[in-house]
Amino acid sequence: MKRVVAAFGLVAILTAAAYWYLTSPNRQTAGLEPMPGGPADLANGRAMFFAGGCASCHATPNQDDRTRLGGGLALHSPFGAFYAPNISPHPRDGIGSWTEQQFLRAMRAGVSPDGRHYYPSFPYTSYQRMTAADIRDLFAFIRTLPAVEGRVRDHELGFPYTLRRGLGLWKLAFLDGRPFVPDPTKSASWNRGAYLVEGPGHCAECHSPRNVFGAVIEERRFAGGPNPEGKGWVPNITPHPTGLAEWTKGDIAELLSSGLTPEGDSVGSTMTAVVRNTSQLAEADRDAMAEYLRSLPPREGRKGPR
Ligand code: HEC
Ligand code: HEC
Repeated sequence: MKRVVAAFGLVAILTAAAYWYLTSPNRQTAGLEPMPGGPADLANGRAMFFAGGCASCHATPNQDDRTRLGGGLALHSPFGAFYAPNISPHPRDGIGSWTEQQFLRAMRAGVSPDGRHYYPSFPYTSYQRMTAADIRDLFAFIRTLPAVEGRVRDHELGFPYTLRRGLGLWKLAFLDGRPFVPDPTKSASWNRGAYLVEGPGHCAECHSPRNVFGAVIEERRFAGGPNPEGKGWVPNITPHPTGLAEWTKGDIAELLSSGLTPEGDSVGSTMTAVVRNTSQLAEADRDAMAEYLRSLPPREGRKGPR
């Protein structure tokens, strides 16, 4: 009997140790490069801010000024409600006292300054593709925005999703930590578009179906799916007959600029906020994103209710 108890005890200790080891946030932060030195490029930081759609989640709801990043927007998910935090440069309530390196860790590794995992409702699964220089410029740009006082409420999640440490296992399965690698066989504009769509633009986060763990199903990336925020359907944006097969590069670029579809309708739902951001980008960047979308492998998607 004593031996059985000892054996169970040992298994429990080993399991706990393995859990602690596998869920360590150091796994994601260890390989990060240091921030590149030199002055930040604020114009590029602004472009990254709009490409990344930070204001869509972090701007305080119900106010016109989209640069006041006081947070508070509720994001409903099958796991519970997340509340986007204050990322304004307020030193106490926002990220005003953060270092560039801490910001890099958040964006690329999904790890907080005090070494905790962030939930992937913060789409670092895409932001991990961004270059360190772009993240530095983005950080510098955010620091020029108004400091907003006040912290937001805590997330409302069911057990076991309240345990942040467990996200380490999720990251092992679904976060590869690889920055964007340009394809030398493709044009510069294709590579620019691929970078913007896959990285800061995080387009796949809405335009793909997710598995039971809430991770994008890679084989159906960009093929559309139920709206992650609950209501409606997000369309297929691959060049498949169930998606954008009939759209030209110009049609896609036009939608990202004015929100108008080839039929002359205004795009709706959560895409309205995306267009508010992409309309601020350089025309060449929108063209590049359209070029990349046109080159995606055509994937069949279910046509959802519109
Ligand atoms: C889809 C919504 C969404 C978008 C878009 C988004 N975020 Fe967030 N962000 C969140 C949520 C939700 C959290 C909280 C995560 C957590 O508590 O684990 C968060 C957390 C953060 C944090 C950590 C703040 C803290 O107090 O620890 C930073 C920094 C951040 N986001 C920066 C950004 C930047 C920069 C962008 C644009 C490039 C961005 N986010 C875009 C939803 C979003
Ligand atoms: C927050 C979620 C979200 C993100 C992020 C997002 N989209 Fe969308 N997108 C939608 C929804 C929802 C629609 C459908 C809008 C409607 O029903 O009018 C849509 C529609 C579109 C359409 C029109 C498709 C059609 O069949 O009418 C295109 C093109 C598009 N998105 C491209 C993009 C690109 C490129 C990005 C990345 C820069 C992106 N989207 C990011 C939610 C999103």
